[in-house]
This record gives sequence, C-alpha cells and structure tokens, in this order.
Amino acid sequence: MRYYSLEKLINLFDGYREVFKIDNHSLMLLQIDGQRYAVESSCPHREYPLTASDVVGDELVCPKHHYRFGISDGQ
Ligand code: FES
Repeated sequence: MRYYSLEKLINLFDGYREVFKIDNHSLMLLQIDGQRYAVESSCPHREYPLTASDVVGDELVCPKHHYRFGISDGQ
C-alpha cells in the first residue's frame, strides 16, 4: 500500500470537493458533515463527472441520470 498526500487538513471544509489523479484512478476527495471520503470521480453508469453530484442523506446522486451511491460503501 502506498501513501498519497492529497490535501492539507486545514484546507478541508464541509462541501469541499476536489479531483485527484493517482496512477490510473481519478478520485474525488470530499468532506460532508466533518467526514472525509475518497470516491471515484465519475459515475460508473456513463462516466459522468460526480463533482456536481448532490448529497442526499448518505448518498451521492449523479446529476446525469440520478443514480444513487452510498458515500461510505459505494452501494
Ligand atoms: S451517468 Fe450517472 S446515472 Fe447515468
């Protein structure tokens, strides 16, 4: 396992979203209610960017076709 420093903690805030390229992955780092998550930055349905996704409860809602994904487990 390798360690990557993505962002300084002091720069994080609720609503923070930023995409990072790591090897062949594009990850979105986000903070919601003080919790930090790193998720794939595009929707698995049609690769639409999730940077503009809405958060409903503990789910990200893809802005394109409104598929929902659990933030903490990806279900
Ligand atoms: S591209 Fe995300 S639900 Fe279709």
